Amino acid sequence: MKKLLVELGNRSYPIYIGSDLLNQAELYTQHIKARQVIVVTNTTIAPLYLDKVLKNLCKFDVETVILPDGEQFKTLETVSRIFDKLLLGKFSRNATLIALGGGVIGDMGGFAAACYQRGIAFLQIPTTLLAQVDSSVGGKTGVNHPLGKNMIGAFYQPQCVIADADVLDTLDDRQLSAGLAEVIKYGLIRDIEFFEWLENNINALLARDKQALAYAIERSCLNKAEIVSEDETETGVRATLNLGHTFGHAIETGAGYGTYLHGEAIAIGTCQAADLSRRKGWLNDGDVERIISLFKKCNLPVNPPKQLDSDLFLELMAVDKKNVNGQIRLILLTKIGAATLPIDVDKTLLIQTLNTYGR
Ligand code: NAD
Ligand code: GLY
Repeated sequence: MKKLLVELGNRSYPIYIGSDLLNQAELYTQHIKARQVIVVTNTTIAPLYLDKVLKNLCKFDVETVILPDGEQFKTLETVSRIFDKLLLGKFSRNATLIALGGGVIGDMGGFAAACYQRGIAFLQIPTTLLAQVDSSVGGKTGVNHPLGKNMIGAFYQPQCVIADADVLDTLDDRQLSAGLAEVIKYGLIRDIEFFEWLENNINALLARDKQALAYAIERSCLNKAEIVSEDETETGVRATLNLGHTFGHAIETGAGYGTYLHGEAIAIGTCQAADLSRRKGWLNDGDVERIISLFKKCNLPVNPPKQLDSDLFLELMAVDKKNVNGQIRLILLTKIGAATLPIDVDKTLLIQTLNTYGR
């Protein structure tokens, strides 16, 4: 087992990465300080892993909440079901919430933990590749709004993250590829060596080679932990993790939540960001081809949906947490392995990308 640390002073916490971690009771119990525990999961994950987790919690008073599965349920209404259970069960402030699932469950569980009685402890047990390499680390929690993705939320750090690579065995190929989109992001924004490693090892990852997957999870979490430790609340470098996300969130919202997987929308958005970086003169044609080719090898989409024209894109991109005074701000690449902080974009170039890239 590998143990990484997200260094945040007295709110620092470990990320455990390895095999068979779900069965290691002490990993969870050392982070649970009182009897009341609530496990939040969904209808897909519960039959696969809930019993395994509950088996380790026999000395606690445990309630479970099994939510419907899907990005379209990442809403305040769904989070209310967690609050109902906490209140009906008379959970107090020293209770612990365990989020067992992908990014949707982790984001909602974390948000419920942040809000209930102004904050109870929570543990992240991410079960998708995307959640293991990205969403479970760093304390961004929240829900979607019909007008904008992830627009309601809070920064709230977990007590620990338990990333058991064995649970990826039951993840389907499409979801695995979606997770790889966020893995590739780390290479693109700050880790050229990792990007090159990914180019050379993508087939092993797609074939679910355990060693390759463990390395990709660890290197991604290392990158994420470093960024979050430096800039927890995204006043600077953390924004680079949003490469491709302004385009991607517009695609998710515009196409209807759940139509594109988050990682798929990010793959397309990153290619659009790469195209715009080329128009700025920072990337050359070969760089953009390299990026598109790696996403394609992962069986990820690289072209935006036809029904999203540039006007609709601009309208949707106007609802983004990086924007200031109505000005769209984007993360672009200055080269493979280096990203800008959010910059005001030249609208003419942006419209060129929206009208021509992948059209
Ligand atoms: P998800 O949570 O919807 O999970 C994908 C699907 O896989 C779901 O159907 C789920 O039930 C299923 N599943 C989960 N684990 C499984 C397993 N081990 N075996 C079989 N099926 C399994 O999607 P996701 O890709 O994990 O997360 C996407 C969400 O994460 C988005 O809402 C996105 O906005 C959010 N996100 C948050 C952050 C953050 O920093 N908080 C970062 C990136 C993404
Ligand atoms: N996934 C973006 C972030 O954690 O900041």
